[in-house]
Amino acid sequence: GRTQRRQSAPCYGSRALPEPQACGVVPEAWRFDCYPERGVVVTRELCEARNCCFIPASSSPPAPGRNGVPWCFYPPGFPSYSLVSVNATDLGQTGTLVKTVKTYYPKDILTLQLELLYETDNRLRVRITDPSESRFEVPIAVPKATEKASSPAYSVELSNEPFGIIVKRTSTGAVLLNTTVAPLFYCDQFLQLSSSLSSQYIYGLGEHRSSFLHDIHWNTLTMWARDVAPTELTNLYGVHPFYLAMDEGGTGTAHGFFLLNSNAMDVVLQPGPAITWRTIGGILDFYVFLGPDPASVIGQYLEVVGYPAMPVYWALGYHLCRWGYGSSNATWDVVKNMRNYRIPQDVQWNDIDYMDRSLDFTFDPTAFSTLPDMVKDLHSHGQRYVMILDPGISSVQPEGGYWPYDEGLRRGVFINHTDGSTLIGKVWPGLTSFPDFSDDVTHEWWYDNLKRFHDKVPFDGLWIDMNEPSSFVDGSTVGCPDTELENPPYTPGILGGLLRAKTLCASAVQKTSSHYNMHSLYGLLEAKASARALKRMLGKRAFVISRSTFPSQGQYSGHWLGDNRSHWKDMYTSIAGMLTFNLLGVPLVGADVCGFSEQTEEELCVRWTQLGAFYPFTRNHNSIDQKPQDPPAFSPAACSAMKQSLLLRSSLFPLLYTLFHRAHTHGHTVARPLLFEFPKDVRTYGIDRQFLWGKSLMVTPVLDPGVDYVVGYFPQGLWYDYYTVRTHSGQPLHLVSSLSEDGSAGGELFWDDGETGSINTITFTSSLPIASYITVETASFYGVKVEPTRVMVNSHDAAFTYRANQVRLGVRSQRLSVF
Ligand code: GLC
Repeated sequence: GRTQRRQSAPCYGSRALPEPQACGVVPEAWRFDCYPERGVVVTRELCEARNCCFIPASSSPPAPGRNGVPWCFYPPGFPSYSLVSVNATDLGQTGTLVKTVKTYYPKDILTLQLELLYETDNRLRVRITDPSESRFEVPIAVPKATEKASSPAYSVELSNEPFGIIVKRTSTGAVLLNTTVAPLFYCDQFLQLSSSLSSQYIYGLGEHRSSFLHDIHWNTLTMWARDVAPTELTNLYGVHPFYLAMDEGGTGTAHGFFLLNSNAMDVVLQPGPAITWRTIGGILDFYVFLGPDPASVIGQYLEVVGYPAMPVYWALGYHLCRWGYGSSNATWDVVKNMRNYRIPQDVQWNDIDYMDRSLDFTFDPTAFSTLPDMVKDLHSHGQRYVMILDPGISSVQPEGGYWPYDEGLRRGVFINHTDGSTLIGKVWPGLTSFPDFSDDVTHEWWYDNLKRFHDKVPFDGLWIDMNEPSSFVDGSTVGCPDTELENPPYTPGILGGLLRAKTLCASAVQKTSSHYNMHSLYGLLEAKASARALKRMLGKRAFVISRSTFPSQGQYSGHWLGDNRSHWKDMYTSIAGMLTFNLLGVPLVGADVCGFSEQTEEELCVRWTQLGAFYPFTRNHNSIDQKPQDPPAFSPAACSAMKQSLLLRSSLFPLLYTLFHRAHTHGHTVARPLLFEFPKDVRTYGIDRQFLWGKSLMVTPVLDPGVDYVVGYFPQGLWYDYYTVRTHSGQPLHLVSSLSEDGSAGGELFWDDGETGSINTITFTSSLPIASYITVETASFYGVKVEPTRVMVNSHDAAFTYRANQVRLGVRSQRLSVF
């Protein structure tokens, strides 16, 4: 039987089956799945045809291909590549990998080139490519090192047979990467790399709905941009093959890993702890970041993909939106009502119902006839206007013609089938074509459309939705050809089972490459085109919020977490989403406050507004056919509670703006997990019901119904209750210093004109406030244990008050605003 089976696996060569003892020694936690195909019941026959070990695991059988101990796994010594030569280069080393035995997937690439690039002391890059043929590489700009790092914080060991890379932290010897744990695959459409993980503490790997700390118990995270309401265990809108992980041993040191690859992929976490990257195209091009603390890891990652843009100041404000206001007057009434209640509202939005027959760059001439007037009115009240755009451009000629489509065709901006015909899908307006944002010609066309529309409706920013891109038909109205791109030998666990599910044909043709390679970059490239166009048109920082995202997105847009539900659970999971996107360099992020689909309730909406007041981006958004959920839609008590939280937010704008500036200039996070400030405190590692703004403002929101208290964790330190601190909104500023145990405090403020950065900026970092043209009139110092007899501000006596019960010193002086 065995001999025969061996012979009936022709593409695999004539290796002997693994000995049962060899299989038995592999602990369950370290079994790497040899049969990840979904929808297949893996039998001993199928498994042994791949020359793998078959042992039904002790636990109940997993759903085919996922989430359980694999029954079919690679035996020790499964054929892989050997490293046959290594040479030193200016930046590190280069080597050749070869293998003689083909795998069970087509088109093995038997000779590979390995490049180790010691780019900086804290950043290692590894590239594994096909030396004989160029393969698709992700078209985002990454830094090019010019000289080899002089004293790297890492050491690299290469294993020759089988080939593997082991990366250690020099200072501690901690193993951060060890790829010898499972065979390397490098076929045309199946590339797989596994590694041990240094610990079970792993974060990032967006976009997924999960706890902030990932579960490593046979957890497959699939990545392929997809329009679907956030659900556990499915691929969602964005793709971010980056993780942050804590080193072994609870020392507080952390490292990061980034696979620069945009193809559909599975990322499998297993209790080893170990990880497997299984992608169906491109190359293996990855980075290891050495930190050593979590915040530095993020800074180093963002040095590669780009720091986030500095947001325009009003982006920090309260945004109000819904699908289905129905008319511009109804929208306007909401704005007026907000003004009547004196609830801070900085931005009003419109969803697709503003459009004429759902067509981009139009507005409904009847129901939204007063839209231009409303926008003028917003502007005269210092408010802004943002409206939605979907990438699908109607391909059916509406009466009177449709410039965006006609002109798009003329300029050839749309994505085509392989035969050169325009690919037609279906979105809100009906049949649509899809602009190819990988082509600069499309950027110019997009700009022209925006300009023409802006001449009619002077909007201030853009909400770009449906850009996975989403289509209501799979592939196209005429289906997709039966090719290797459409039906690859292995399809990751994407929702719908096919690459084309609810999107375009994988074989569709884009300027840069096939949609197969470019799919998950669609939202990034649309955001890039939009941000560029806005900057050019308005001469200010661009405001763009995108649903689909990819690494480097933060340079062009923020993100909202998509179509959540009005459930308490969705409010809770939004914290993990917000924190993860801060790790991914998209700090301008928030969820639909009060929930998008289903009817919200008053208590939930109040709590959500209180939490949302601490999203870096806060927008109340609601689905069509749901009752209004703007603050005045609720009881006076609820409305007033929401108003209080929004006033509190406004009073904190200077802090928030300063944090965004740190993100923009240093790659810091804005909303921050507690573990970033307390990396040695293992109890912070799993916290995702609390978070920080910057270093020291901790938010512990109510996330459950029917309670008026919260249970939170206070890491070691001196904490003050913010609500006993008197706050002011607007100027002059009131400065709050909460002294440390040693009686000192430090701070920083970034300030400019809010739109262009052209007005002088100031920054202070000291134990005393120093401001230039802004006025700090009053200051409170918390933690002053003894009443002073005299207070001097810049060598002059100042008026002060002292409250012993609050250990608070209040100082009033015009001289606080000096220099
Ligand atoms: C999508 C968006 C949602 C929007 C709706 C209508 O579902 O995610 O926010 O309201 O489309 O445009």
